Amino acid sequence: MAFLKNVRGIADRLRFIGDERGYYPRRLAVSNHNHQTIEFIQKTQCRFIAEFGIYKGYTSIEFARFLNGRGELHLFDYEDRVNDVSKAIRSAGFNNIKTFGSSYKLLDSYNWCLAEVLNQHPDPIYDYVFLDGAHTWAVDALTTLLVDKLLVVGGYLDFDDYDWTLKGSSLDPKLFPLTRKLYTDRQIAAQQVKMIIDLLVRRDVRYREVVPNKIFQKIA
Ligand SMILES: C[S@@+](CC[C@H](N)C(=O)[O-])C[C@H]1O[C@@H](n2cnc3c(N)ncnc32)[C@H](O)[C@@H]1O
Repeated sequence: MAFLKNVRGIADRLRFIGDERGYYPRRLAVSNHNHQTIEFIQKTQCRFIAEFGIYKGYTSIEFARFLNGRGELHLFDYEDRVNDVSKAIRSAGFNNIKTFGSSYKLLDSYNWCLAEVLNQHPDPIYDYVFLDGAHTWAVDALTTLLVDKLLVVGGYLDFDDYDWTLKGSSLDPKLFPLTRKLYTDRQIAAQQVKMIIDLLVRRDVRYREVVPNKIFQKIA
């Protein structure tokens, strides 16, 4: 009985945090940096990197090590996450980072922060963009169109999780009931990152695919 009560308590707590903090669970199935991304960037001379969705900063710290004080690393996520990760990266000795924190309001996201970056930079600044945040059409289709304006010719646009679906993820409605309120069944089953790549990037002749289903170089 005590065990069952405990399990229910944890489930309630997770749901509570999700509700309170803006429809995103604090517990995610991520444990390591993105190896393909870091292996790829090490073969480039990229110096201005933006990461959208940083979680605990596993890939961010590898980007910082790669830059080793050169250029700039821009980190986008919820405010508390960018603050924690930036503190950790600075204490590792890398200070060339800028953070862009979002609130947990339902319709807030890094797209709002991108308006600020666009306002400050009428010309493209990034040579590497790693998009690993919401993974949804509603948020990341717009992110893709906005970062295109900030990506230099020759720069790279890197997407995580081509096959990802809300169904079966840490946002599956069985684990996170709000997903059912926010999305239709069709949207829950859809591969939304694939939709973004197929409809917005692959059809754009200015991009060539350099790592299948993942990294695209802007060539014009
Ligand atoms: C898969 S994790 C990122 C993993 C990270 N790139 C890494 O390699 O370790 C997704 C991140 O996106 C963030 N995210 C999701 N939706 C967001 C939104 N609407 N606005 C800001 N951040 C969001 C989450 O807070 C989470 O930290």
